[in-house]
Amino acid sequence: MNKLVLVPCPYQGHINPMLQLGTFLHSKGFSITIVHTQFNSPSSSNHPEFTFIPIPDGLTAPIVSSGNIIAILQTINASCEASFEHCLTTQIMKQDPEKKIACIIYDEFMYFPAAAATHLNIRTFILRTTATANFLARSTVIELHSKGLIPFPESVSSDPVPQLHPIRFKDLPISPWDTIEKFLELIVSSHDVRRSSAILCNTTVCLDQSSLARVQQHCRVPIFCIGPLHKITTAASSSLLEEDASCIEWLDKQAPKSVIYVSLGSVACIGEKELAEMAWGLANSKHPFLWVIRPGSITGSDWIELLPREFREAIGERSFIVKWAPQREVLAHGAVGAFWTHCGWNSTLESISEGVPMICKPCFSDQKVHTRHVSQVWKLGLELGDEFERGEIERAVRKILENSDGEEIRVRAKDMKEKIDVSMSKGGSTYNFLNELVELIMGF
Ligand code: UDX
Repeated sequence: MNKLVLVPCPYQGHINPMLQLGTFLHSKGFSITIVHTQFNSPSSSNHPEFTFIPIPDGLTAPIVSSGNIIAILQTINASCEASFEHCLTTQIMKQDPEKKIACIIYDEFMYFPAAAATHLNIRTFILRTTATANFLARSTVIELHSKGLIPFPESVSSDPVPQLHPIRFKDLPISPWDTIEKFLELIVSSHDVRRSSAILCNTTVCLDQSSLARVQQHCRVPIFCIGPLHKITTAASSSLLEEDASCIEWLDKQAPKSVIYVSLGSVACIGEKELAEMAWGLANSKHPFLWVIRPGSITGSDWIELLPREFREAIGERSFIVKWAPQREVLAHGAVGAFWTHCGWNSTLESISEGVPMICKPCFSDQKVHTRHVSQVWKLGLELGDEFERGEIERAVRKILENSDGEEIRVRAKDMKEKIDVSMSKGGSTYNFLNELVELIMGF
């Protein structure tokens, strides 16, 4: 069977769906080559079935340590265009030369493969790893900026953005890392889909139907909604950090649906004050909680040194803190009753797919768009206010886990899980899109 070349964006929330898609396509008989940056390179040992090829990414230690994701992605795109073409012609095409490269699938933020694909006449697909509603929100940012309406004045921040219900100006996915102009350069490049055979979205029709028709008008190539990708195969973990499985033993000892799982994902950081409010809000709720605190995610400390000592004494056995969890397994565990999430798209999809209601506290960009959809459109969770405030956190945990007014959310979460299960089973929308995709690639 022919070869497929996959190019993930080097962040956890992008590597996971790309490798999950790779696992699925491998199960259909394609041989898979992952071309990746040296920065945040995925672990090849978890995926012996793939060929991994690193290419020079042009990143320097100061750019990486700046944490400016826009600058990092632009550097990679500028540096990798030539090295990618070199890698295709000198390595990938020469290995198993009887197998041709059927197509290249690249993350929307890794648009550098497009040039080589055009020169070498290879088809491409773009993988979008966030909700389709987020694409519309980004397109709106481009439009508002062209009319001089961005940056917007503070006075309108809580006003609704016209035709983007339920997004307010303050929810628009604008990057916190660089100037609006640099951000828009990246977005405009990632939105250029003219040379692609199709766009693959890690979402499913039952979630994103209302945005989908509008996105289709913007992008004149077919859109395949093939998510949730983590459910289409049992892909091995592609975690960049080591998963601490001891939390599963702790979950085994907790009552059904009693635990709140807390994680702010792979990039977001918080300060000492927010940490204290989170800690006391969780402790005061009196519910057990499993809390992922990523090393370096609390500004000014290596790990949990800044957690108040009285807090640690107060919670005793009632909580479990890990550096990184096997999140998909955690969310599928019967003891987990709710997820306090930053609403990165993978976390959101993983929670929805397991019928776990959410408390949403977005940190930046697309997370705010996802939060508004979870809380206002799908009504599968609660949105916390702009401040971290312990009283509000305690009330939210109680509401989502125990109160009768949280019951409607819990029922809807269960219903949505069932709809997603239907979309993945024979004849469902995701099932059909995946089959069409495989047939399309086989025909190349
Ligand atoms: C980033 C951006 O911040 C986000 O806005 C965008 O939608 C995707 O990329 P990230 O913080 O990586 O998000 O969050 P998310 O998309 O939720 O991805 C995190 C992944 O890490 C999930 O697949 C989750 O299962 C996994 N994870 C997280 C773990 O395996 N263990 C953990 O302890 C925490």
